Amino acid sequence: MRSIAIINQKGGAGKTTTAVNLSDALAREGRRVLLVDLDPQSHASLHLGVQLGEDEAGVYDVLVGDAAAAEAMRSVNERLALLPAGIDLVGAELELRQRPNWQRVLRDVLAPYREAFDFCIIDCPPSLGQLTLAALVAVEEVIIPLQPHFLALQGLGRLLETVTLVRQDLNPALRVSGVALCMFEKGTRLAQEVLEDIQRFLSAAEPGTAWCGARVFDTRVRRNIKLAECPSYGQTIFAYASGSNGAEDYHALALEVLGLANGARHEISGDGQAITESIAEGVAAAGAPGRVEEPDAVVGSTSIVAGRAKSDGI
Ligand SMILES: Nc1ncnc2c1ncn2[C@@H]1O[C@H](COP(=O)(O)OP(=O)(O)OP(=O)(O)O)[C@@H](O)[C@H]1O
Ligand SMILES: [Mg+2]
Repeated sequence: MRSIAIINQKGGAGKTTTAVNLSDALAREGRRVLLVDLDPQSHASLHLGVQLGEDEAGVYDVLVGDAAAAEAMRSVNERLALLPAGIDLVGAELELRQRPNWQRVLRDVLAPYREAFDFCIIDCPPSLGQLTLAALVAVEEVIIPLQPHFLALQGLGRLLETVTLVRQDLNPALRVSGVALCMFEKGTRLAQEVLEDIQRFLSAAEPGTAWCGARVFDTRVRRNIKLAECPSYGQTIFAYASGSNGAEDYHALALEVLGLANGARHEISGDGQAITESIAEGVAAAGAPGRVEEPDAVVGSTSIVAGRAKSDGI
């Protein structure tokens, strides 16, 4: 089983949209997929039309209570299963910490399913709190969805620092496999600049870092109203609007994740040293393990993009 956490502590970056639609795209490519909703907002569950009743087990009961994962899992379609979340997950961060080895709880929950599924995709909350840490310990890969706009890179250094610390202390197999650009608006100068900044940073990664070998996926998930509409119908983009740009883009992203698409890197021009150093400093200045628990601190790179945005009058 390949396990992938979809993480960005920035809100509204496209995590849930990516987790849900990438999962279904992989399922439609014949893979058996388990989607884990690890966000107390339950957006992935709601996106798939699942709203847990009071007596129904969800990921909270599995992590903090005694419920078996199989009890909480439900089938979305032939090859896609969901481990849903309910609002009770809000309390899980506190309660999780009271369990011994809490960082490994999710990993242990998922371990028996390694043969049953080809992919496990985890939709994470917009923070770097305990739930996200549990996800980072449970997976081998991280995909970072990112909307290339003003301040898009804010917090990226902090996120990579967290991944680095988890890799050092708890999960040596962890790596960032890529950045997925979401709500992409082709032709905007800022989107292009953000893209180039990230590409430069990733291609300058030192061997041994968690993001060495990571890339910006060639697929740009375009802004597409159908992607915003389909959650209201409890459907993925493939069930709701199979001919839309959104379906086309998430299918293309799935092919890239499967290694079935041409993944040629885009050429980068110009001097990107400053932002590369800036994000790297954010990571280097991370300090001792333990600081990862502070959610959403801002480090690193964004001043450059923000500065550009300002000078562009945005
Ligand atoms: N490519 C797209 N085109 C149009 N709308 C999109 C696209 N991707 C996401 N959206 C919409 O943008 C909003 C934020 O997306 P999403 O919920 O996936 O972000 P998120 O990172 O999961 O947010 P949160 O941090 O709250 O969990 C949603 O309303 C979603 O429907
Ligand atoms: Mg979300």
